[in-house]
Amino acid sequence: MISSRLISALLIVCLRSTEAVGQRNVTIDDEFGDEITQVVPSFMPLGGWTLRGGAKGFAKPDPSLTYNRTWHDATQHAGEIPKTVNFNFTGPSLYVYCIIANTPPGRSFDTSAHYNFFLDGKFVGTYIHDPQAIPDYFYDSLVYVNTTMENEHHSFSIILDAREKPVLMLFDYAVYTTIEQRSPTPSLSPTDSSEASDRPIIPSNAGVVRSNTLGVVALGFPMIAMLLPVVYL
Ligand SMILES: *[C@@H]1O[C@H](CO)[C@@H](O)[C@H](O)[C@H]1NC(C)=O
Ligand SMILES: *[C@@H]1O[C@H](CO)[C@@H](O)[C@H](O)[C@H]1NC(C)=O
Ligand SMILES: *[C@@H]1O[C@H](CO)[C@@H](O)[C@H](O)[C@H]1NC(C)=O
Ligand SMILES: *[C@@H]1O[C@H](CO)[C@@H](O)[C@H](O)[C@H]1NC(C)=O
Repeated sequence: MISSRLISALLIVCLRSTEAVGQRNVTIDDEFGDEITQVVPSFMPLGGWTLRGGAKGFAKPDPSLTYNRTWHDATQHAGEIPKTVNFNFTGPSLYVYCIIANTPPGRSFDTSAHYNFFLDGKFVGTYIHDPQAIPDYFYDSLVYVNTTMENEHHSFSIILDAREKPVLMLFDYAVYTTIEQRSPTPSLSPTDSSEASDRPIIPSNAGVVRSNTLGVVALGFPMIAMLLPVVYL
């Protein structure tokens, strides 16, 4: 009884770990860009944003609590050219993180958040935060998440919406999930006609074994190793 439970538990572990293989989260930092492609988000209009608040930014979050100690700061007022963040990524999931301000000590400034999100040019959501009467910044605030996209190339835009009141954005980073494609197995299929006539006829089940070699090595070996003590008991 224990053995069969153990086997199914181990099997689940095996299946989970093989499922996760090839999935990876990639971070796009506001300043250093995509950790794979190094492409940096575009912050528009030019001159409308300051890196880490610069000299004129009132918001002073703790750099050590931000990703790569960097963020982009902008305030949008009604009637101004809309301030936007744009970046591209390829994958089925996206997580966007900002720093959210409340009522920091010192000179008061607008800290409301009202962001509109566009995926591949289509409006997909809004994030709103009204400042609380506390000094704290909220770090790693998830302002947008989507885990149900096609595993394709996507464009993503954030537009600051100041129609109701001035809006602050402290953009920190985004994370997307990539799925690495399996490397193509050497083609011995009938459609590969150029050399086919020279080849010996392969028994039909041989193809199955061949194409699953990696799977057998990856799954079969640990499974056999795990089953041995069970059989022994
Ligand atoms: C990617 O990050 C999200 C959010 O933190 C997490 O839920 C997910 O499990 C991560 N995926 C991978 C493949 O690490
Ligand atoms: C950004 O942070 C990540 C994770 O801590 C680190 O691996 C990477 O080297 C940092 N990049 C830069 C340019 O500091
Ligand atoms: C996104 O990709 C398109 C082409 O597919 C390119 O024209 C555009 O400049 C890219 N945007 C950013 C912010 O990198
Ligand atoms: C996620 O993206 C799909 C398009 O791929 C869109 O239809 C859906 O509304 C998005 N979901 C969220 C929560 O934005």
